[in-house]
Amino acid sequence: MTRKLFVTTALPYANAAFHIGHIMEYIQADIWVRFQRMQRDGAADREVHFVGADDTHGTPIMIAAEKEGITPQQFVANIAAGRAQYLDGFHIAFDNWYSTDSPENVDLSQSIYRKLRDTGLIVTKTVDRFFDPVKGMFLADRNIKGECPKCGAKNQYGDNCEVCGAAYQPTDLVNPFSVFTNATPVMKPSEQYFFKLSDPRCFEFLKDWLNTPGRLQPEMVNKVSEWLGEAGEKLADWDISRDAPYFGIPIPDAPGKFFYVWMDAPVGYLASLKNYCDKKGIDFDAFLNDPSTEQIHFIGKDIVSFHLLFWPAMLKFANHPVIDKLKVNVHGFLTVNNEKMSKSRGTGISPLRYLDLGMNPEWLRYYIAFKLNSKVEDLDFNGEDFVARVNSDLIGKYVNIASRCAGFIAKRFDGKLASTLSEGAQSWINRALTVDVNGVIVERQASIAAHFENREFGKALREIMEIADITNQYVDENKPWILAKDAEKTAELHDVCTTALILFRQLTILLSPVLPGVAKNVASFLNDAEFTWADTQVFGDAVSNSMLGRTIGAYSHLMTRMDAKMIEALFDAPQAAAAIAAPAGDAANDAVSAAPAAAAIEELAPEIKIDDFLKVDLRIAKIVNCELVDGSDKLLRLTLDAGEGRLRNVFSGIRSAYQPEELVGKLTVLVANLAPRKMKFGISEGMVMAASSADEKANPGIYILNPWPGAEPGMRIR
Ligand code: 2FM
Ligand code: ZN
Repeated sequence: MTRKLFVTTALPYANAAFHIGHIMEYIQADIWVRFQRMQRDGAADREVHFVGADDTHGTPIMIAAEKEGITPQQFVANIAAGRAQYLDGFHIAFDNWYSTDSPENVDLSQSIYRKLRDTGLIVTKTVDRFFDPVKGMFLADRNIKGECPKCGAKNQYGDNCEVCGAAYQPTDLVNPFSVFTNATPVMKPSEQYFFKLSDPRCFEFLKDWLNTPGRLQPEMVNKVSEWLGEAGEKLADWDISRDAPYFGIPIPDAPGKFFYVWMDAPVGYLASLKNYCDKKGIDFDAFLNDPSTEQIHFIGKDIVSFHLLFWPAMLKFANHPVIDKLKVNVHGFLTVNNEKMSKSRGTGISPLRYLDLGMNPEWLRYYIAFKLNSKVEDLDFNGEDFVARVNSDLIGKYVNIASRCAGFIAKRFDGKLASTLSEGAQSWINRALTVDVNGVIVERQASIAAHFENREFGKALREIMEIADITNQYVDENKPWILAKDAEKTAELHDVCTTALILFRQLTILLSPVLPGVAKNVASFLNDAEFTWADTQVFGDAVSNSMLGRTIGAYSHLMTRMDAKMIEALFDAPQAAAAIAAPAGDAANDAVSAAPAAAAIEELAPEIKIDDFLKVDLRIAKIVNCELVDGSDKLLRLTLDAGEGRLRNVFSGIRSAYQPEELVGKLTVLVANLAPRKMKFGISEGMVMAASSADEKANPGIYILNPWPGAEPGMRIR
């Protein structure tokens, strides 16, 4: 029976670009997906759909959009437009990338909700919540700051203190204020909608669901079982509603109430699948109801409660067919040198910088795969280890086979492989590709396949490298470069190089879930169509027969060694912020340092060359007019003269800092070659420059730049 696989990864918030942790998760899922896509031999056939989406809703995105003076939809679209460069860059091949802000997600989320309501699992309760009277908005704990009730530290969030570590309620804060307006929050009653997770039906169901064999990793079964309690007594109802203004999906029959982002986010998996099915002409409902369908889901360990408590319980009682099909694989965090990544310590890795440095994405795919297993363990990235692993395995073992043998086939045999193999050669092939297990000869590909299937990628790669070791041993013993010098050994040379390339092809097929780009190039060099997993089967001489007598193309270099210097460039330079992390009042530091005390400044952007800087055309501009913008409490509309013989219209988010009349007649600095941007209120033709503190609360000011006297409109700043 064809396995129908619907593969998903956690949906990233659409408020920022991908970070390296996202890339790690997608690489893990992509390798698994590519392995499945290679199963095309009838009995083991797979139908695979790999779908993702942006997680768009919630207050942070709403506020970020507001700050930019654009709609949340536009904000999310801008983020979504930046996704492909990462996914394509790291050879991550989702079949569909969609959005939780979509009609499909509205329908599916509301339909799940209605069914839960009909089953009696939605309850309303009136609760007192913090409210910002100036902004007219309810506040989450993180939207409130104040003084820590334990240690008195200022500017601490409403849920815990970053100085002393105390956890508390926002009501415990001394002098609390709203991060949006600085207003003192007031308590206001609000009717909230809860999913009744405390209902005994939820416990009864979850207990069985978690324990279904193959559904979850054993450590997750244990962890979630603890959260349930002996008889479900630890399960509390879950508030799924948020009050307007909120960027989200309206709750049916509840004016002014929206689903909390975590309610509709996991529904986004289904929305993306539905969108994809509609595009492909697949019957979505039939697919979900098919007994051979499975949802294989990859997530990080930080979001387990949403996926293993709320989400399954909601699916179950909404009678959703996917509930019986869901299998969840949880991974740990990516650490650097066994510590959490930190920009200030210089251990942050930017995925785009990796690509910009010209580093091969398949180096990283290999390294991540090599370190991954099926457990919920952190994966440590160590620069030296990365270089050593890639250079030793991929270059020293794998590529080396082809680079030592392919040239002879081209030069000496017109690109044609031998038509027969010597017995010795055939026995080396068998030795490399099979192994004796208690007297029974078995194909290594079968255990490698099992490792890929079970997400034991490290084990799969170790076994593949054993094949590479045996192949290199064969080449070392037979020395084609010596055979090539003796005309009488031509047939032997042909035999050896053909054998080595047969094994090289096998290695490539086995590695192709991890190294899809390399595999594509090898397939073209060997004149192969797309590789399938069936091509790895050894018995019946299938491996040799398919290659013997074949004409192959010219070998071109497949992968370069990694230069260790790249690693230095890969990491963020340690920032001044590192000094802030030193314990306060460190006497030794105080004594030796003549430098000004470190302030909490924003971290420096990565170093650029002068040419990069010169791409930005900064000009002196005169503010000839300045007005409020109807409908925006953030923006001012500036009319600027940058000496061009025309005036420019520029919107700037400086309303909170300046009255229009203060600015008229002043000179300032304009980014003059910024692409014009269409905003809700008109087109903005450039940007005026202003300074602001990284710590908005400590200094909420915005300070527009103003040149020394003598500067004139149109002058370039360099
Ligand atoms: O933690 C996060 O980044 C969430 N955006 C993950 C959501 S996964 C799913 F529920 F959409
Ligand atoms: Zn404290």
